[in-house]
Amino acid sequence: MSVDLLLGLQWGDEGKGKIVDVLTESYDIIARFQGGPNAGHTLEFDGIKHVLHTIPSGIFHSSAINLIGNGVVIDPVIFKKEIENLSPYHIDIFKKLLISKKAHLILPTHRLLDAASEASKGKAKIGSTLKGIGPTYMDKSGRNGIRVGDVLSKKWKERYITLTQKHLKMLDFHNVELEYNLRELEVEFFDALETLKKCQIVDSESYIHKAQDAGKKILAEGAQGSLLDVDFGTYPFVTSSTTTAAGACTGLGVAPNKIKEVFGIFKAYTTRVGSSPFPTELFDEVGAKISKKGHEFGATTGRARRCGWLDLVALKYAIQINGVSQLMMMKGDVLSGFETIKVCKQYRTDSGLIDHFPYDIQSDLITPEYKDIPGWKEDLTQISTEKDLPKNFLDYVDFLEQELKTPIKIVSVGPDRKQTILR
Ligand code: GDP
Ligand code: IMO
Ligand code: MG
Repeated sequence: MSVDLLLGLQWGDEGKGKIVDVLTESYDIIARFQGGPNAGHTLEFDGIKHVLHTIPSGIFHSSAINLIGNGVVIDPVIFKKEIENLSPYHIDIFKKLLISKKAHLILPTHRLLDAASEASKGKAKIGSTLKGIGPTYMDKSGRNGIRVGDVLSKKWKERYITLTQKHLKMLDFHNVELEYNLRELEVEFFDALETLKKCQIVDSESYIHKAQDAGKKILAEGAQGSLLDVDFGTYPFVTSSTTTAAGACTGLGVAPNKIKEVFGIFKAYTTRVGSSPFPTELFDEVGAKISKKGHEFGATTGRARRCGWLDLVALKYAIQINGVSQLMMMKGDVLSGFETIKVCKQYRTDSGLIDHFPYDIQSDLITPEYKDIPGWKEDLTQISTEKDLPKNFLDYVDFLEQELKTPIKIVSVGPDRKQTILR
């Protein structure tokens, strides 16, 4: 059976968690393929909001298996807290959750290195979530990392000590003030590792291949967004993994010709956390209104997300790179009440108007060219069928479908599972 893939098309926080949860009833396996606890995926149902960082967003459904793939990096401390947060919901975690032996571990010193690296960059900092993501992927590609499968052997502690000592030397090199107590961090780390070791730790690629052969339906859940991809994102202001479709192949062991539907999720506007270029960013009261109505604060760090209009240049680029076959538009409800909505169709540069996403999107090099679209006044949050949606909203959706040459199959009109309209 083929694998479907769901990923964010902007700078993350598009609403992936909500939609994976909605789609899970049609799948047997939900598999995360990259990123780590830098992700914050929010789900809401029965009046309760849940935020997941490492655990896939299908965990609340009784039937689906949730798999943390080899491409993910895991911090046992955060993972343990996530499991504890799930305890009121009587989920049989140790039955329903599988972890790849090949997933890499985030060590306490990876987190320290992340903090030191950011501090040493000063104004040029990436705006990292400081979860140790960059240093862990560096050790992975540098062939020094420690994988989940390693901790099942007795000898791995020697490797832990060698790697940690190397990290401490690297911390000295950064030469920044950093207060920490490594002993305390290690106590917490080794304690949390015991929880992780109680989970089913598997050869995940082989598990997936067998599931495919058995005709199981698999949904691969992306983290972050395409514009944070280490190759195709706004480098260096990106994360350290492949957030685009190719990441599902390397992060799960799924062959490219086995991927069927690629669901691309985007917000009806744009947000971004951390430092970095953002051409359609709004610095006025419109941006403040979107931020307030959309509750645009990071699910992992609580930082305010910067807000701006929808950027079709960036969105078309993400659709192409991922081969998106269906779109899902989130947070349309947040735009209710604006007289006019703007959409960026092209970038004005020194060499004229361009409609491709260029090497550099620094705001002093690019001015967005907007098209005005009539807004709608109606509240969308109580609407449950397409026919009840206001005409101007539907015109906005039609306009986007034509521009993006891809069908918008779901529009989301609120954070709850139920506030989801299929088209
Ligand atoms: P993810 O990282 O892509 O899973 O997205 P986040 O969970 O970080 O951020 C999305 C936020 O928007 C969460 O607070 C969701 O509860 C919320 N959300 C998702 N869909 C909608 C929607 O259609 N309307 C509104 N108002 N909020 C939504
Ligand atoms: P989800 O899965 C939004 C951003 C950080 C920073 C950059 C690098 O919830 O959509 P990192 O911690 O990876 O070194 O940070 O990437 N970032 C995210 N922004 N949503 C995310 O995940 C993000 N994960 C990382 O803010 O700018
Ligand atoms: Mg998020």
